[in-house]
Amino acid sequence: MTDNVLYEQLNGFSTDLPTLQADDFACFTRLAQDLIGGTTDIQALQAVRVNLMGKKSHLTVWSKQLGSLSNDDKKTVGGYLHGIRTTLNNSLQTAQNTLEAKALDAKLQAQTIDITLPARGQDKGNLHPISLIANRMQAFFCQAGFEVATGPEVERDYYNFEALNIPKTHPARAMHDTFYFDAQYLLRTHTSSVQIRTMERGNLPIRIICPGRVYRCDSDQTHSPMFHQLEGLYIGEKTNFAELKGLIHEFLQAFFAKKLTVRFRPSYFPFTEPSAEVDILAENGKWLEVMGCGMVHPKVLQNCGIDSQKYQGFAFGMGIERFAMLYYGVNDLRLFFQNDVRFLKQFG
Ligand code: PHE
Repeated sequence: MTDNVLYEQLNGFSTDLPTLQADDFACFTRLAQDLIGGTTDIQALQAVRVNLMGKKSHLTVWSKQLGSLSNDDKKTVGGYLHGIRTTLNNSLQTAQNTLEAKALDAKLQAQTIDITLPARGQDKGNLHPISLIANRMQAFFCQAGFEVATGPEVERDYYNFEALNIPKTHPARAMHDTFYFDAQYLLRTHTSSVQIRTMERGNLPIRIICPGRVYRCDSDQTHSPMFHQLEGLYIGEKTNFAELKGLIHEFLQAFFAKKLTVRFRPSYFPFTEPSAEVDILAENGKWLEVMGCGMVHPKVLQNCGIDSQKYQGFAFGMGIERFAMLYYGVNDLRLFFQNDVRFLKQFG
């Protein structure tokens, strides 16, 4: 029977208590239980509860008439009514429990984790492009027999300038916009200071590369106050300029992984004699300056206690950022240090 038919039948029972028989009460109870049992949601059950047990319900109306019955009837009918109330309360409670459990089940069902969804994934880190380029340079020189040497970034004037044949009054100091701490200490402007420190130790021959951070008071599209250099030094009894040229030419072709036209253009550095700038011929027909080099100045060797009659050597130095810009085709050096992951993720 549908709810509506059940409601109709229940409402059809007489509200006049004395006219009802035991059968009527039994029938009422069965119909009421059917109604409760057929309820499918908690709100509907609440409506059923009000209808069956509320102030206007048959049960309440009947109970109010108990007082007017004879003592015997009062007992019997009172017993019936109490029985109905207990039975219906139990049925309502059971129905309530069932519906609540069902609702919880439905909720859990809706909230289940879909394990077939693709995972969110984890971002993989990569080396900074400057590190990648430095590694690429080092790989070449290490297989050519060079060892990596490092030194302090806060350096003495002596190691950064004096020992490299750049005395206090030397105009070449103007080439390096130096950050000074005081008269003696500064932020190294090149890693040539590491070469001095190595030569001072006097274990000859020397074949080193010196990668590292250097500082100059300069900032624009192609200059940053902090940048990286890789310098090299080879001191032996027979080293010569031809060897330097060959090594640098080999390096450049290995680094850019193609045949290159390389030019050694006479230049000046206080610590090398002769000195040269190295240019490569770009595809647009223009010469690009990529590094400096030269034969170590005898004065520099003497400053480090090396016999310049017996030993000679060559040195070279390049900016790692410059090579990174050329290699990756990046036209603003500052991009390397802005730490924008969208930029940095493109390398490595
Ligand atoms: N130290 C030079 C610089 O920083 C580069 C260089 C190194 C040039 C060795 C010649 C030889 O500008």
